[in-house]
Amino acid sequence: MKAFGAALASCVLFLAVSVVLGQNQNPNKSPTSAAPKYDPAIYAELQRAPKKARERANPLENDPDAVAAGAILFEQHCAECHGKSAKGTRKAPSLRAPEVQSATPGTLFWLLTNGVVRKKMPVWSKLPEPQRWQLVR
Ligand code: HEC
Repeated sequence: MKAFGAALASCVLFLAVSVVLGQNQNPNKSPTSAAPKYDPAIYAELQRAPKKARERANPLENDPDAVAAGAILFEQHCAECHGKSAKGTRKAPSLRAPEVQSATPGTLFWLLTNGVVRKKMPVWSKLPEPQRWQLVR
């Protein structure tokens, strides 16, 4: 039973990681019923990241522990709104959309730092910087 729990947990984490990493998901395959309909306008905020923020390199880029740590953080802080596998819920849009998947780590770090408060995406500046980088790696 314990082992099963652990396997399940690592499976969930793996999903979160693949989302956090922002790689090669097909966003069009998964419009889950609860999630808001895909609309590029939702992600407009990402376009507002200043050039300098976009180009900022992730200091944890080569840290082998960052992915697992990011997955745990996602589960703790983001899954509640964006869903366990980040496909979105009624509260928040999918993070598997191409706008998010193709955003640079610096852009996502900037977004987490600033939030989109008027649209109910919280500011994450209370999370220490390294943790924000773990999430966007
Ligand atoms: C209280 C609910 C809530 C939580 C918790 C939350 N988000 Fe969001 N998030 C939102 C909403 C709502 C939006 C859509 C904002 C908009 O319309 O621009 C959003 C949008 C985003 C976007 C897309 C940017 C954009 O232009 O909208 C990213 C990336 C994102 N969230 C990442 C995260 C991460 C990573 C976490 C965990 C650290 C997180 N969110 C936690 C509600 C939440």
